[in-house]
Amino acid sequence: MRIKFSKADFSTDHPLVLMVSDGGGLLSAAEALDKKTNGSISRVIKNEDFEGTLGEVLVLNAPNGLKSSKIVLVGVGDPKRLQVGSAQLVGGKIYPHLAHQNAAYVIVDSMPGSKLSATEFSANLAFGALLRSYRFDKYRTKEKKKDQPKLKNLIIGVREFAKARKIYSSLSKVANGVFLTRDLVSEPANILFPESFVERARELKKLGIKIQVLGEREMRKLGMGALLGVAQGSQRTPRLLSMRWDGAPNSSNKRPIAFIGKGVTFDTGGISIKPSGGMEDMKWDMGGAGVVTGLMRVLAERKAKVNAVGVAGLVENMPSGTAQRPGDVVKTMSGQTIEVINTDAEGRLVLADAMWWCQQKFKPHTMIDLATLTGAIIISLGHHHAGMFANDDELANRLTKSGEETGERVWRMPLGDDYDNQVKSQIADMKNVGGRDAGSITAAQILQRFVQDGVKWAHLDIAGVTWSNTDSPIVPKGGTGFGVRLLDRLVAEHFEE
Ligand code: BES
Ligand code: MN
Ligand code: ZN
Repeated sequence: MRIKFSKADFSTDHPLVLMVSDGGGLLSAAEALDKKTNGSISRVIKNEDFEGTLGEVLVLNAPNGLKSSKIVLVGVGDPKRLQVGSAQLVGGKIYPHLAHQNAAYVIVDSMPGSKLSATEFSANLAFGALLRSYRFDKYRTKEKKKDQPKLKNLIIGVREFAKARKIYSSLSKVANGVFLTRDLVSEPANILFPESFVERARELKKLGIKIQVLGEREMRKLGMGALLGVAQGSQRTPRLLSMRWDGAPNSSNKRPIAFIGKGVTFDTGGISIKPSGGMEDMKWDMGGAGVVTGLMRVLAERKAKVNAVGVAGLVENMPSGTAQRPGDVVKTMSGQTIEVINTDAEGRLVLADAMWWCQQKFKPHTMIDLATLTGAIIISLGHHHAGMFANDDELANRLTKSGEETGERVWRMPLGDDYDNQVKSQIADMKNVGGRDAGSITAAQILQRFVQDGVKWAHLDIAGVTWSNTDSPIVPKGGTGFGVRLLDRLVAEHFEE
């Protein structure tokens, strides 16, 4: 789909999308067309009880006197309450009604009382439609043509079209990162494994990202016994990937912000094997690494003025004759030892070494890790918030705010000594599970033991938000890319110079 911006033109023969405010009030474009067609649009609105609430859609056959054959009315609600998120939602809501047209024409007029300009609105509407248009269809070889979306041109008519095009152009870079993340998360584990994940990441080199990859031997030398313990049951050898973007002006010595992702390319549970029902979901247990990679792409493509590093701990968790056993004790790169009570609590083992290495190597001032870490976070928060844990209130508040602004919401959870006590071990410095109670919190406590003094840290447990089984306005079902827009926003607001 190509998105174009131009001057509003009613004489188009493409399907037309028109805005309606709450109470069914026609905005100027719709009003003009209504006049031209002797009030037929307002008659239908009345007849169908169309209220114009935000995102409400009504499709009608175009009345006589118009060239286009179809009209899509979309509600914007109360113009005074419009935000960029509402514009994105409108774009996402109209897309499915246009997907099977060759082209469509959206007219965005200025909305009385709105703090959001028509220019901003139109760029964000386009962004929302683009995000909704994502499909992972590379393995569908027999899908009928008529079932495939064919929208080639989405044209947006708006007064300041050149300005809108410019805003959209930077938003589309964010979409590129979201799409990369969704692609990675959607790939099955026979295609995406540690080595092939690294190959995908290498494509970011052309955007100016520096890639470094550690293999098994190097990790052994560095003493990463926890990450390697998870990997040892698999035929696929592990990788530790780093992606650096040095975009701060006069950058050489400025400490970076670091993003670290759990990249378990498939999680069978290992010897503590998972039940087979639903196990296919564990192809997306590399969601954290996927977000980090997509985010790095956004930062580089939009040339963010920040030094940032992304790290992905890439392993496959398999049961086999070489797999680690419950009861094994592993030694992490930090020197701390972990008793592995349950081989299915593997993400924290991978992150323990990935986080430590990241801090030793890059000396970040701030470190944010993302992981599909616990089923328990889905019990706590469902699919509507990611769990957030942090050792710094300012960082936590900023994440909460960026979450509200982007719709990728996070909810802060507690940390504390009482929880930390649950992971004490009889024979090692800690054990990798803390019992059934507070499962997401005890997992976070383990991670916190690998945060170095003075480093601001947040952990996002994204197990509930990485995959969706239902379509929502700007996120079609499947891999969501949750976290890319959130963290891009956080960086743009607080970490760029
Ligand atoms: N990858 C899973 C967590 C998960 C569950 C992600 C469901 C997405 C959807 C993680 O490695 C895991 O298995 N966690 C265990 C921990 C337990 C053994 C302490 C869990 O949540 O059951
Ligand atoms: Mn697991
Ligand atoms: Zn896992």
